[in-house]
Amino acid sequence: MTEQNNKKVKIDFGSENVAEMQVLKATIGQDVIDMRSLGKLSGMWSYDPGFLSTAACESKITYIDGDAGHLFYRGYPIEQLAEHSTHLEGAYLLLNGELPTKEQKLEFETSVIRHTMLHDQILSVFKGFRRDAHPMSMVTGVVGALAAFYPDAFDFKSEAERKITTIRLIAKMPTVTALCYRYTHGLPFMSPKNKLSYAENFLHMMFATPCEEYVVNPIIAKAFDRILLLHADHEQNASTSAVRLAGSSGTHPFSAIAAGVACLWGPAHGGANEAVLKMLGEIGSEANVDSYVAGVKDKKYRLMGFGHRVYKNTDPRAKIMRKTCYEVLDVLGKHDDPLFKLAMKLEKVALSDPYFIEHKLYPNVDFYSGIILRAIGIPVSMFTAVFALARTVGWLAQWQEMITEPDLKISRPRQLYTGYAARDYVPIDKR
Ligand code: CMC
Repeated sequence: MTEQNNKKVKIDFGSENVAEMQVLKATIGQDVIDMRSLGKLSGMWSYDPGFLSTAACESKITYIDGDAGHLFYRGYPIEQLAEHSTHLEGAYLLLNGELPTKEQKLEFETSVIRHTMLHDQILSVFKGFRRDAHPMSMVTGVVGALAAFYPDAFDFKSEAERKITTIRLIAKMPTVTALCYRYTHGLPFMSPKNKLSYAENFLHMMFATPCEEYVVNPIIAKAFDRILLLHADHEQNASTSAVRLAGSSGTHPFSAIAAGVACLWGPAHGGANEAVLKMLGEIGSEANVDSYVAGVKDKKYRLMGFGHRVYKNTDPRAKIMRKTCYEVLDVLGKHDDPLFKLAMKLEKVALSDPYFIEHKLYPNVDFYSGIILRAIGIPVSMFTAVFALARTVGWLAQWQEMITEPDLKISRPRQLYTGYAARDYVPIDKR
């Protein structure tokens, strides 16, 4: 349990009922008031829809300083990791708490590479989908279906079983994601290739054909790997909380991850990068930016790719993505792409407009990642599936942390009930 300092807060419930609540100390960031005895002491629950002021768990994995605009994986700043590390090294760090040694890195990467293939029958699962099914509906279904192939993963009290489960999911997500694209477009499935890196392998499975070798541009592969690393974890966001909540019942880990995929799909969360591109399409041209922004200020709609629940100053991932965006467009010679120019105009207008400054609305990571993914040739409908592929690492690290807690409790929120009090059933002829 968290180290406690001696600080306590007093809550006066009236009628001389004053309760003392322990303050639990954070290493950095907000301390929390331990509310676990609140119900017993006061006969009331705390009310906090949307978890605006509620810490739902204790965690050692990721820390965000929303005001300063910092993100740390296991204490390492995201900027340093983006510069020097890779998605798989980041995955090892998030899962194990420390950067790997050379030998540990090789062993981890080799294990991931050796588990990229899918059971052949998974292809039959795909064949059950309509060709125009949204990729996220397929990923949700297929990740859930994978549980049927690994019944032993239920034995997650065993460290070895947990380890193989995390390797399997990290390894198979690129294959599942690429298959969604191939299935939608009626393209033959390209088997993973062990000689390729994680990012290269995904791009190969997406874009290679049986007719010719697909050579991955190293700058594109690096940019894609960086997108994965930057999206790998983000502490207790909605989809991670969904994974923790589903997993707290002791469900199959693949099912818990499927819950995360389902939650990520929403436009307020992982669906934002897709929504950014749709929005740019709706705006249509640079000439329409000002009138579109006026509509945002009139609260007719939101500017997608702007704002964040936690970052109220700057999203550090966005800074890195912006730079990467320019690198990718350079290498592809796409700086004059009208959509990119439109996005840059929108960015400029929004960043200088008092409404956005007052509301602390800055471009978030998804504003730029969508532009990069599109430039690489990944269809817009696949963007959230790519996010899911990246976030699988964080979901697994958080699931593992939660499931190994000694005093784990099933997540079971309370409610403020405002419906009818008890009343008698009315027979149908009397209604
Ligand atoms: N465009 C215009 N106004 C906005 C926006 C936006 N994108 N986001 C927030 N606001 C305004 C909102 O209208 C409200 O104004 P007022 O106080 O005048 O009523 C104020 O800012 C606070 O809004 P909120 O909904 O209470 O803020 P939140 O912290 O709950 O919302 C958010 C966070 C990410 C859901 C929201 O900013 C949003 O909808 N952004 C667009 C979607 C998006 O880009 N999501 C991706 C987030 S990054 C990926 C990830 O980490 O999941």
